[in-house]
Amino acid sequence: MLKLGVNIDHVATLREARYCGWTHGEPDPVLAAQVCEAAGAHGITAHLREDRRHVQDRDVRRLRDVLKTRLNLEMANVAEIVEIALKIHPDIVCIVPERRMEITTEGGLDVVAGEKSIAETCQRMKDAGIEVSLFISPDEAQVEASARAGSQFIELHTGTYAEHFHDEPRRVLELQRLIASARLAHDLGLKVNAGHGLNCLNLTPLFHVPHLVELNIGHSLISRAVFAGMESAVKEMLGLMQGYCG
Ligand code: PXP
Repeated sequence: MLKLGVNIDHVATLREARYCGWTHGEPDPVLAAQVCEAAGAHGITAHLREDRRHVQDRDVRRLRDVLKTRLNLEMANVAEIVEIALKIHPDIVCIVPERRMEITTEGGLDVVAGEKSIAETCQRMKDAGIEVSLFISPDEAQVEASARAGSQFIELHTGTYAEHFHDEPRRVLELQRLIASARLAHDLGLKVNAGHGLNCLNLTPLFHVPHLVELNIGHSLISRAVFAGMESAVKEMLGLMQGYCG
């Protein structure tokens, strides 16, 4: 069964828009995470960015305390956040690239260029009993480097696929890249997640990608929740995901 990890960063973004610098405020991303779990989500993803623009340290601590499923901590491969992850002990960390000026995580991690330091972080997490996923573009060199670096998972960046979804030739090309990368990762013993820009419309064609374990979805779910509520939004997405045959 294809699993759903809900990214709750966007709930924190809304809170910070009004309550930045406060120790509390609404909407509460931890409460949102609990509603997602109750609706059937298989895990919760939160990105503790270096600039703390949305999720705060206290959110991650509270998530660790209350979640009944899995906490996936997205993070840059930088000393401060690595230490926080080792202390908070999420079930899995997803290492992502971070740029201050970006609106969201724009590209994949360059594992080829950063292999040595990423491998060190993978080893530290492994020693602590924390799984590691690397958020990469569907590029075969990046998949191979991820396997060498010692992560258990990759998360394929579906942002380019989603961005060009309405341009058929480009969509087909991006799907082929995702399919080839998923196959290669599977052959190399990696487990495959995917995420970024996924919504109810572009989800089903993605089912051509084999070996998917989990999808991480945030923005479209929170957007849908504004009208339908968080519980319904998660249930709708889970219903659509039942069509995946692997
Ligand atoms: N996966 C990763 C690694 C991400 O950085 C993000 C965005 O924060 C997502 C999934 C979810 O993307 P979206 O909010 O577009 O669904």
